[in-house]
Amino acid sequence: MPSKHLKMAYNLLKGKRGIISGALDANSIAWKVAEKCHAEGATFTLTNAPIAMRMGEINKLAEATNSKIIPADATNVDELKALFEGSVDHLGGKIDFVLHSIGMSPNIRKNIPYTGLNYDFYNKSIDVSAMSLHKMLSVAYNMDAMNEWGSVVALSYIAAQRTYPFYTDMADAKAMLESVARSFGYHYGKAKKVRVNTISQSPTKTTAGGGIKGFGDFYDYADAIAPLGNASADSCADYCVTLFSDLTRMVTMQNLYHDGGYATTGVSNEVMQKLGIQG
Ligand SMILES: NC(=O)c1ccc[n+]([C@@H]2O[C@H](COP(=O)([O-])OP(=O)(O)OC[C@H]3O[C@@H](n4cnc5c(N)ncnc54)[C@H](O)[C@@H]3O)[C@@H](O)[C@H]2O)c1
Repeated sequence: MPSKHLKMAYNLLKGKRGIISGALDANSIAWKVAEKCHAEGATFTLTNAPIAMRMGEINKLAEATNSKIIPADATNVDELKALFEGSVDHLGGKIDFVLHSIGMSPNIRKNIPYTGLNYDFYNKSIDVSAMSLHKMLSVAYNMDAMNEWGSVVALSYIAAQRTYPFYTDMADAKAMLESVARSFGYHYGKAKKVRVNTISQSPTKTTAGGGIKGFGDFYDYADAIAPLGNASADSCADYCVTLFSDLTRMVTMQNLYHDGGYATTGVSNEVMQKLGIQG
């Protein structure tokens, strides 16, 4: 079901061409971003790892948004080249926006604690969740596949700055992801005026989010801390649209919190009450 917010379209992305990665099912943040970008007048290709295609859900999104699907493993540079080439070709010109909405940790999947990480898995977590952003940017940069003032957004989490024990090696991957956004953002900004940012999103009920041990309890905790409550996937998609639009042209190399005020709240009355510290 499209959300009610979809009715509020402003044509913010009219004429823009994009690539949206990471839509696995209707809960995915990328799924909502695709719906909103479509409502705002953009055309785009959808991409995901070939293995994720097996679920077949993405076909529904492609149909609803009139988009072509180009499978690509985000760790594979050749597949990323084919993705950018195919997108430019299909959309009829250079790309204006890219969503990196990709994360996966085999250590988390297998419940391995941070103090005993499997290093092959650790490499995989970093490659899939962080280095893939560098690979995407590098492919786009070297192919000159993006228009000036284009915008690249990747999704991050506050465990990049502060310790969240259950987030294990994904915390390291997110710290690297944010660093890549800053470092590449400098070079891409200088050379082509392309901007690169990360959005640090609230806990969100998706396949990736739900895979983290104790996610449900933590979701409630963050919701009780944030003055506005947890930010939904839907509102995250709204924020992505603004960053893809021309209204944020001077924003680059930033990690932008989209979390209802969580990141700058020390403690809330609700949490004190839950702990029985405050009557
Ligand atoms: N859900 C949360 O609580 C939360 C909070 C903050 C940030 N994020 C981030 O948001 C992003 C999107 O996650 P989501 O919550 O929508 O979950 P999701 O599971 O719907 O999306 C993750 C996507 O990554 C894709 N992926 C995995 N390996 C890949 C590969 N090798 N190549 C290409 N794609 C690959 C998956 O197929 C999937 O579509 C991730 O970076 C995640 O870390 C999520």
